Amino acid sequence: MKGLKTVYICSNCTYHSPKWMGKCPSCNQWNTFVEDVISTSPEETATPKRKSMISSTENRAISYSDLEIPEYIRSQTGLSELDRVLGGGLVHGSVVLISGEPGIGKSTLLMQICECLGANKKVLYISGEESGGQLKLRAKRLGVSGRNLFVLTETNLDSILSEADKIKPDIMIIDSIQTIYDDAIKSAPGSVAQVRESALTLISRAKGDGISMLLVGHVNKEGGIAGPKVLEHMVDAVLCFEGEKLQSYRIIRANKNRFGSTNEIGVFEMTDKGLIEVGNPSEMLLSGRPKNTPGNCAMCTIEGTRPIIAEVQALVSTTVFPAPRRTANGIDHNRLCLIIAVLEKRLGLKFYQNDVYTNVIGGLYVSEPASDAAIALALISSLTDKAVPDDLIAIGELGLSGECRAVSNLEQRVKEAARLGFTKAVVPYKNIEKRSFDAQIELIPIHSIYDALKVLGR
Ligand code: TYD
Ligand code: MG
Repeated sequence: MKGLKTVYICSNCTYHSPKWMGKCPSCNQWNTFVEDVISTSPEETATPKRKSMISSTENRAISYSDLEIPEYIRSQTGLSELDRVLGGGLVHGSVVLISGEPGIGKSTLLMQICECLGANKKVLYISGEESGGQLKLRAKRLGVSGRNLFVLTETNLDSILSEADKIKPDIMIIDSIQTIYDDAIKSAPGSVAQVRESALTLISRAKGDGISMLLVGHVNKEGGIAGPKVLEHMVDAVLCFEGEKLQSYRIIRANKNRFGSTNEIGVFEMTDKGLIEVGNPSEMLLSGRPKNTPGNCAMCTIEGTRPIIAEVQALVSTTVFPAPRRTANGIDHNRLCLIIAVLEKRLGLKFYQNDVYTNVIGGLYVSEPASDAAIALALISSLTDKAVPDDLIAIGELGLSGECRAVSNLEQRVKEAARLGFTKAVVPYKNIEKRSFDAQIELIPIHSIYDALKVLGR
């Protein structure tokens, strides 16, 4: 079309190129180029005026000692699991990006929190994807009364801003940022340029007027947030909504949070009445656990301040192919390969003729090395067809020599295991060598993975 041309833009640093490239020459990132259409007419190609995200009339440098520590005022969202991830509630004037796959429950979550936020705040819900009627139908099903809630079904940025000027909300919800478009930019909604400029305008407005803003962001095929990477730098917190669509569990975690820790997770269950908080995730993750079955072991991971007990499963099956498969779901693939290598080298177990599949139940992703001992036991158990006792939990990090290293917060982990009915815990010897505690369950201290084998009666 006349006046328009196709360019490729790096979604990480917004470098422009006439051709697609695998690696960005500017930021050296791979696979970041996305196709975009821009206008070539001179008045439209002029770079839009840079907007500042921090409204400040003073441009003077201030002495460090004169800086004041701001006091964050937080609003409770009515979902304590979400408040926990946010660091204790939604901070006034902050901008939060909520990302997740389509249908995971982002709009449901946001509609649910409108009930509590609307108690003493004015909420403006901007929907670019659903009609007002659809929203009302859902809100009714979720038991949202809609007090202090205003709905605007609009995608044009200028119209949104002028409506916001009239309503003067305390909280704005944008569902979703990929549907919003700025007339000044000629590319299509959802393109890198549109998302970047619309988000920048909305964020600067939010910061200027002290509005708390919740932005919904779609994810692309690779699982990253669709649009420019800079979007994540612009906001105060990035929350990821995860879970298997076919299962009812949903986990929300903070990938970035300027007002709290990023370790916390919030667990929900999707029901016909919307998202219900799961205050005790361990019980949920352990429900339906097979009894006396080889290839599974309980483990304990610390997510933020909470110990969470989950089950790791391993399936070791013979293969005829020269390169056996190693599949890791819920744990790091490299960590799995490392544990297999340690077991082969130190215990002489033969995994090289077997495919290995591992899975952490409930869609949980465990990155803590303290889960190594449980993964190793699940692997050995599946290989040797001997079940790990159902009432046993394994905690410990494995070193390359097969030694079992100390872990943090052992007492907290063991107490959670005792609460859930476990009677034995394999723990690193180093942890209880100097300091013992009233564990309430039998502790089996191990020096190395070799000692752990005794648990399986080998
Ligand atoms: P939605 O919030 O529309 O997802 P997103 O905004 O992330 O795309 O959630 C849609 C899914 O949630 C849909 O598949 C139906 C399911 N759902 C329930 O199971 N119960 C409910 O009460 C609601 C509102 C949705
Ligand atoms: Mg939605």
